[in-house]
Amino acid sequence: MSDLLLSNIGQLVTCDQSFHVGSGIHADPAFSQLGVLEQAAVVTEKGKIAWLGQQAELPERFRNYPALDVTGRLVLPGLVDCHTHVVFGGNRANEYTLRAQGKSYMEIAESGGGIKRSVALTRAASFESLYFEARERLLRMMECGSTVIEVKSGYGLDLETEIRQLEVIKALNQELAIELVPTFLGAHEVPPEFLLDGKKDEQLTGRYLDFVIAEVLPIVESRGLAKFCDVFCEQGVFSKEQARLVLEAGQRRGLIPRIHAEELSFAGGSELAAELGAASADHLMEITPAAIRQMVEAGVVFVLLPGTTVFLGKGKFAPAREIISAGGVVALATDRNPGSCTAESLVLIATLACSNMHLTPGEAILAITKHAAQALRLEHEVGTISPGMRGDFAIFDLHDYQELPYNFGVNLLSGLIVRGEVQISAALPQGSGGGCCG
Ligand code: NIG
Ligand code: FE
Repeated sequence: MSDLLLSNIGQLVTCDQSFHVGSGIHADPAFSQLGVLEQAAVVTEKGKIAWLGQQAELPERFRNYPALDVTGRLVLPGLVDCHTHVVFGGNRANEYTLRAQGKSYMEIAESGGGIKRSVALTRAASFESLYFEARERLLRMMECGSTVIEVKSGYGLDLETEIRQLEVIKALNQELAIELVPTFLGAHEVPPEFLLDGKKDEQLTGRYLDFVIAEVLPIVESRGLAKFCDVFCEQGVFSKEQARLVLEAGQRRGLIPRIHAEELSFAGGSELAAELGAASADHLMEITPAAIRQMVEAGVVFVLLPGTTVFLGKGKFAPAREIISAGGVVALATDRNPGSCTAESLVLIATLACSNMHLTPGEAILAITKHAAQALRLEHEVGTISPGMRGDFAIFDLHDYQELPYNFGVNLLSGLIVRGEVQISAALPQGSGGGCCG
């Protein structure tokens, strides 16, 4: 929690429109919302932003602060990944091979692969192996610019393993500089011991949900292991009414609802999100115009995951332009998980959104900062660069924000600052800021 002067910033993208200057027309309709400053500086005190503005106007009292000279580079708020499943055992590379040969995600899931496979591998994994494998993933995500990452359980589906996953998230949150936001996803699938001859059975599924609500949720609550409760609402997984039971039970225990909705089919999860006042509904490839309106009216954030569409080879993206035209707040996330998306870079996800969903670079940047913070109900702490916000910054070896999604698959991160402390600075002039990831 340090004092720091970030100096010589070529372009500072605050994502706070109150910093927008000028009245000219820009090719990007989202430009004014980005609040862009040129030749700027930012000061943090005790980990929070104390001042920002033109470098030439830097007040005298900050001039002796420990400085990091970013030599004309691009600076953004630390990126916020609002939907991931980074704690899991093993991998499912074999399924990728099957999909390459034309098998669908659901066909693979029905023949013993899918979430069930990761559940078996995660149950077999120790706390230590889950911890160290997730830690590697999170360090790589930091190398891509993320400073806040939501992480879900949901590969345990029994009391012991769900809690182990959440304890891993808690321990990593204590060790790593970045913030992890935990989500309980006990209703991610029906586990094998609640299937009848390997198939779902209405009564047994009901019993599994009773178990999640009566046995697992109370422990998640009493140990303070999650901020959110999530459900995979999908045809063949959990229905809207089953999802409602779990999310309402979570709400009674202080967990804010969010939901996997309309990913492979329309099952009504987006409507439920609106009815419950959820923080977000995520995926939404199959959302309807009526459900879009309901979510907009209820203020639910639309979390879109184009990496999943690409990785599953589905070709059908969420209707981002319709959502934005209807007044919806769009966030983007990686969905990092072993089955449907292995991408870890939010900048790559921004590129996929611009190329396939017709977001502009400005809209995509808002979607991985300010709007993603809103999806995590953290918009008063992170996601924008303004006084009082946490001193989290991603520094890129670029001059203009449009170049960020434009560089398809190229990682140009040269620095990462969390709470005013330099975590990554290998590509910056040394001797001022400090060392690398520790
Ligand atoms: O967000 N849709 C459900 N859950 C994950 C996939 C999980 C998996 O395949 O392991 C998702 O895509
Ligand atoms: Fe997911």
